[in-house]
Formats: sequence, C-alpha cells, structure tokens
Amino acid sequence: MFQIIQEGKAKIKVSREKKISKKLLVFYNPVMKLNRDISVLLLNSLRKSKLQIGLPLSGTGIRGIRFLLELKRNKIKSISFNDNKKDFLKTMQDTITINNIKGKNNIFISNEDANLFLLNSSGFDYIDIDPFGTPNPFLDAAITRLARKGILAVTATDTSALSGTYENACRRKYWAKPVRNELKHEMGVRILIRKVQLVGAQYDKALTPIFTYSKDHYFRVFFKCEKGKKKVDKILRKHDFFNTAGPLWLGQLFDKRLVKKMLKDADEETKKFLSVIDEELDIVGFHDIHRICEEFKIQVPKYETLMGLIKKKGYKVSRTHFNPFGIKSDIEKENLVLIIKNI
Ligand SMILES: C[S@@+](CC[C@H](N)C(=O)[O-])C[C@H]1O[C@@H](n2cnc3c(N)ncnc32)[C@H](O)[C@@H]1O
Repeated sequence: MFQIIQEGKAKIKVSREKKISKKLLVFYNPVMKLNRDISVLLLNSLRKSKLQIGLPLSGTGIRGIRFLLELKRNKIKSISFNDNKKDFLKTMQDTITINNIKGKNNIFISNEDANLFLLNSSGFDYIDIDPFGTPNPFLDAAITRLARKGILAVTATDTSALSGTYENACRRKYWAKPVRNELKHEMGVRILIRKVQLVGAQYDKALTPIFTYSKDHYFRVFFKCEKGKKKVDKILRKHDFFNTAGPLWLGQLFDKRLVKKMLKDADEETKKFLSVIDEELDIVGFHDIHRICEEFKIQVPKYETLMGLIKKKGYKVSRTHFNPFGIKSDIEKENLVLIIKNI
C-alpha cells in the first residue's frame, strides 16, 4: 500500500511499511531529510549556475525533485536521475507527474548500474553519491566524470568501519586505522575524506572539503574539485596520522564563508545544526570534557563558564558538532585540567 508524503516542496509516493528497508520498492528514509535539506541549501549558496546534475543512486528521486523545485532559477541546466532498481523508470515518471514538473526536456531518467550511467555520460558539475554503506564502488566513475570545477557530494553509512568498531574493515576499505574513542566520528570522516582524495589524485583532481558533517548513522562530505598536479600534491601533503588514527586528512572541513551563506536561508531546525558548525574551529581533534572530568575525578563545569575562562587565557575555543561533550581548542590538556580544577 502507498501514500503520498511531502518533504520540502516535493511529493513522493511511498510504501506504508513502517520499517525502512533496502528491499522496499520505493526507498525513502525520512531520517535523511536533513541530508537533503543541506544539499539544497549548499547548492543555493554556491555561486554556480547552469549545473549539470548527476544522481547515480536516486532512490525515490526525492533529492532531485527537491532540486528542481527548490533551487534558485538558472541553477539547473540538466538533471539526470538514475537507479538500478526494478521499475525505476515508471516510478520516476510518476513522481515527476505528481509534482507537476514542467519543461521536462532537461530531465533524463535511466535505469542502469550507477557506474555505467556515470561512465556513459559526458560529465556533470554536481554528482551525488548517496549509497547504502560505502561510497567506494562509485568513486572512480564519479570522479572521472566530475567537471574540472565540479562539486562531489559523498555520503557514507558504514560508520562502524570508519569509527573503529570493525578496524580491519576500515583498513581494507579505507586504507587507514580508525579509533574507537571519543574522537571516532571526527577521525572516521577524516579517513573517508583522505580515501576520496586518493582516488581523485589518480586523475589529477584535487578534492577539497567545503562542507563536512557527521550525523545519526552517516558521514557526509561535499568536495570542490580543482584540476592540476600541483594542487593534488598540496592535498596529499595534508595526509598524516593524528595520534594513532590514520593516515587521514588534516586540512579544512568547511568553507566558513559558505556556511555563513547557508545559515542565512536555513529553517530553524537546520539553523540549530549549522550554527554549531559555523562556530566550530577548524582544529583537528577536541577535548571531551566529560572524559577528562571522569579521569581526574572532578566535577563537570558549565560549558559557557569553562569556555569563557579558556578564552580569557588567550586560547581559541568552540563547541564541536562531532560530540556534545567536546570542545575544540588550542589549549593543552594539562592547562585545561588546571582551569577546570579551579572553577
Ligand atoms: C540510499 S538509497 C538513495 C537515496 C536517495 N539518494 C535519496 O536521497 O533519497 C541508495 C539507492 O542506490 C540504488 N543502488 C544501489 N546500488 C546501485 C548500483 N550499483 N547502481 C544503481 N543504483 C544502485 C538503490 O536501488 C537505492 O535506491
């Protein structure tokens, strides 16, 4: 049985089944609404227009339909939906009809393997790799078909490998050692970034993260692409270990000017999430205050008080979206403990 639901400005026909499963004929995951909200915001905030958009793993197509209905005028030159699911052509046609989308001559729909779809295309300015699990199988084809100044969006839901539950799986899939401590999500996403960059390096494409986050059961990274050997060499120089984790990406996770633009147009819920990222320092790693207080058997202070005192001593400090108990700062652990002990 089906029902019509709305997300953003898009409507889709979904199964009434309560349980989200890969086996569903139409795979719609409401938890990923924020993932799609952020994609819309990001594309609207970039100074790019006439984009050729490629969606190799479209699912219900809701992301692309939202692009068609919610991106500013002139943003889209063409949009290509693909999924290898049975009946995809028909369900996608239905979805376009339900949404009353006109001017269909710049919309293409195909029902192939994602890699064939990418390799047979003439290339895209924006490619969104949104798989079940690891993006690995699709990286080569996506990066080869990404325009010189294109944007690549990558989701990974195999966070158990990247965050250290399955260390060997991380070594096999991402060629790096993860950690299982409080830094696991940040280290995991930095390991993912390096892997994508290594694939890019093979094609002389330098991929720099412009927006990165970890949420619920997934990691998400948007990369801007620049072509050139020197640019790639610069990226590779920022790969190293952080304590025992890695090799991983030690460079920027965000383009802060872009985050500010995104904040302006965000709805209340997304704003809450984005404002933490807006203030988050681009420092690798963070201090988990709960952990530290447990270790030294001291009382957990109020975060605002603690952050004020750290700042007063001349250090940089911010919260981090990676961990509600974490603070990013250039303060050494010994000095941080001293401050907490004296509160
Ligand atoms: C997580 S869902 C995509 C969700 C969608 N992007 C969204 O925003 O709602 C992954 C999709 O990839 C499709 N898929 C998996 N492997 C594929 C492959 N090799 N080629 C094409 N599609 C594939 C599945 O049928 C599924 O619809």
